[in-house]
Amino acid sequence: MSFDEEITTLAQDIMRSRKIVALSGAGMSVESDIASFRGKGGLWEKYDPEEYAHISTLRHHPEKAWILLGAMQKEIAKAKPNRGHYALAELEQLGFLKTIITQNVDGLHHLAGNRDVIEFHGNLQTVTCMDCGHHLSSSEISLDDIPPRCSKCKGVYKPDCIFFGEAIPVEALTRAHQESRTCDLMLVLGTSAVVYPAASMPEIAKSAGARVVEINPSETVLTRFVSDYIILGKTGDVLPKVVDRIKTLKKD
Ligand code: APR
Repeated sequence: MSFDEEITTLAQDIMRSRKIVALSGAGMSVESDIASFRGKGGLWEKYDPEEYAHISTLRHHPEKAWILLGAMQKEIAKAKPNRGHYALAELEQLGFLKTIITQNVDGLHHLAGNRDVIEFHGNLQTVTCMDCGHHLSSSEISLDDIPPRCSKCKGVYKPDCIFFGEAIPVEALTRAHQESRTCDLMLVLGTSAVVYPAASMPEIAKSAGARVVEINPSETVLTRFVSDYIILGKTGDVLPKVVDRIKTLKKD
């Protein structure tokens, strides 16, 4: 099948679906200049995530955890949604996309205009003091001295994202399960699908009878055994083309 035929196939699958859920990962934001976790040139090449992004490191060596967190916050603060994010927002506006379950902590789906986004791993937009619970926007804390300390009690701030060693909040987990179980098309976008429990969502959707379609420049662990098909390409290239094709097909 040619690339153009693949775009048409996905556009048709979207148009005939009753409920569509997307699972997104770091690849979705690569075209916003945020390097993926397991790809080349990412922050995680320099900093071992299991060490720097582990909750016990933040508790016992916050200055170390904040080296990575500070670098991530700086990268995210200047990032803007890309064409892939905007295409998903349009897919929601057109009434096709119900929910995004995102593993990303960059807030770019919200910025692009999507309204139903489950931030499965939380986000870096806000921080909370681990001692007194003081909660504020990340833009209000200074990264000149790390770890940043609470203006009220001098405790250490924790970004409102999930660290290694922490459980996914029950509400996000329950909703993600429910949306995955009840969709009939799951779009798996820019994720290597190796980190659980997020990686189980396509499996849950598939076992409940949904079609699973990946958009990713590389095959993943899902491609052979779970996905119905994969469109090999960048989400920032493929998604806008799919949305344009839907609009053309709607006119016909
Ligand atoms: N468009 C789409 N996909 C892309 C692009 C792109 N432009 N560039 C890279 N990719 C794909 C890669 O081929 C890879 O399969 O995005 C995927 C990124 O995988 P990871 O770096 O493993 O990111 P992700 O799957 O989101 O990681 C999941 O792991 O460390 C944790 O909490 C962290 O949320 C993260 C989770």
